[in-house]
Amino acid sequence: MAKVPTIKFNNGQSYPIFGIGTWKSKPGEVTQAVKDAIDIGYRHIDCAYAYCNEKEVGEAISAKIAEGVVKRDDLYVTSKLWNTFHRPDLVEKGLKATLSNLGLKYLDLYLIHWPFALKEDGDMFPVDADGKTAYSDVDYVDTWKAMEEVCKKGLTKSIGISNFNKRQIERLLENATIPPVTNQIECHPYLTQMKLTQFCKSKNIIITAYSPLGSPDRPWAKPDDPQLLDDPKIKKIADKYNKTPAQVVLKYQVQRGHITIPKSVTKSRIKQNFDIWDFQLAPEDIQLINTFDCNGRICPYADAFTHKDHPFTKDEY
Ligand code: A2P
Repeated sequence: MAKVPTIKFNNGQSYPIFGIGTWKSKPGEVTQAVKDAIDIGYRHIDCAYAYCNEKEVGEAISAKIAEGVVKRDDLYVTSKLWNTFHRPDLVEKGLKATLSNLGLKYLDLYLIHWPFALKEDGDMFPVDADGKTAYSDVDYVDTWKAMEEVCKKGLTKSIGISNFNKRQIERLLENATIPPVTNQIECHPYLTQMKLTQFCKSKNIIITAYSPLGSPDRPWAKPDDPQLLDDPKIKKIADKYNKTPAQVVLKYQVQRGHITIPKSVTKSRIKQNFDIWDFQLAPEDIQLINTFDCNGRICPYADAFTHKDHPFTKDEY
């Protein structure tokens, strides 16, 4: 079975650089997908409370542990604190809800899913009387302090962030006693994130690339949106290595040192995506792919653009 390289976080913990994503995986499909992934050799599973499928992911984990295929210690499970649990007194509650859903006693990594808070402890996507997203003004620095506490309690081995911009990371670092190990951000050839990845590297924060395949199944995709995996420029590079476009854009992330978490619920693709350890992209091909950037962000969270802590609305990275 292929051995996935690991990377080392700034707290000393090693983590597999490659995992299975579960955003958009339907509850009725995700149990089998995660079982297949574990059988194929994946040991890292990326989850989130907001994906509304953690119970079904947990069923797969329990089944594979019961079968003796893996032990809990062999697995690396990540999840994320949803925006309605940012108030410090709700952080442990949010984490425990995830642990209960997944059927686990601890997480390996817990992230703040977005830097902005939404109205607490009710609907996952709260709206106010005029139908607009209902905000909360809880400061992510205060949320982070509560993240540090759940980490110290051993409910998660590591803590990190997701969708934070440079300014927000700087502010977090000024106030943190435990620095985040990773910033999980959208990253693919149409949004290469050169500046933010360099900044995170300088702070010893590993990048986790979400939507590495361009998320063709995002619910808001329009029929004439460009499709990363159908891009002839990517196809040409893939042909050169006798690999698929998906394998090339995944290896592109791994070679940049990014944790990479492609989602699939299709066994043949889960297998194909994992089969990227027998080739290396030449530096000139990595550089070529870097030039495909077109600021092609596909996860803008536009419903919260007016939030004071929205990460992508100002002219910053
Ligand atoms: P499916 O889950 O139906 O197999 P991302 O990880 O960027 O969010 O992309 C996930 C999307 O990419 C899903 O629609 C998934 O389809 C599809 N996908 C995953 N792996 C491959 C692959 N090897 N080739 C083509 N499409 C893929």
